[in-house]
Amino acid sequence: MIEMNLEVNGREENWQVEPGETLLEALRRYHFKGPKLVCGTGDCCACTVVVGTKSVCSCCLPALKADGQKVVTVEGLAEEGVLHPLQAAFIETAASQCGFCTPGFLMRSYSFLKNRNPAVLPTEVEVRKALAGNICRCTGYVKPVEAVLKTARVMQEKAREQNG
Ligand code: FES
Ligand code: FES
Repeated sequence: MIEMNLEVNGREENWQVEPGETLLEALRRYHFKGPKLVCGTGDCCACTVVVGTKSVCSCCLPALKADGQKVVTVEGLAEEGVLHPLQAAFIETAASQCGFCTPGFLMRSYSFLKNRNPAVLPTEVEVRKALAGNICRCTGYVKPVEAVLKTARVMQEKAREQNG
């Protein structure tokens, strides 16, 4: 076992991991069960988390690569019991059906929006491109895209209020 230190959802973590263990395996072993294992080969993105500023498929990333990094999982989106606007929009637009893909969609969308200027709304094409690697067998993708566009509008409004 190798010791590693990282921050997950704003809290310091001290983990013992196997050399070949993936970040997804370690997260789930340390009780972060939001990221899901589906393909395990980087093809569906159900396991997406944010490491640093980028969203990654945690089933393909060795846990040790996250040593010293800040990781955000779907469990870290809500603040003090209040859903993140993305989570609220996924509910409002019925963008989650069986829900198995949803943590991955949320984290990919979160990273996409966070790395943009909130004053400039994304186009539908840009959102579809950002989510292109995330596979969903239920929704047909229309609702998740709608949810992200809706969140972008909410975040633009918030940014306007903050900037007076
Ligand atoms: S479970 Fe990681 S990409 Fe499918
Ligand atoms: S909601 Fe079922 S796979 Fe996406």
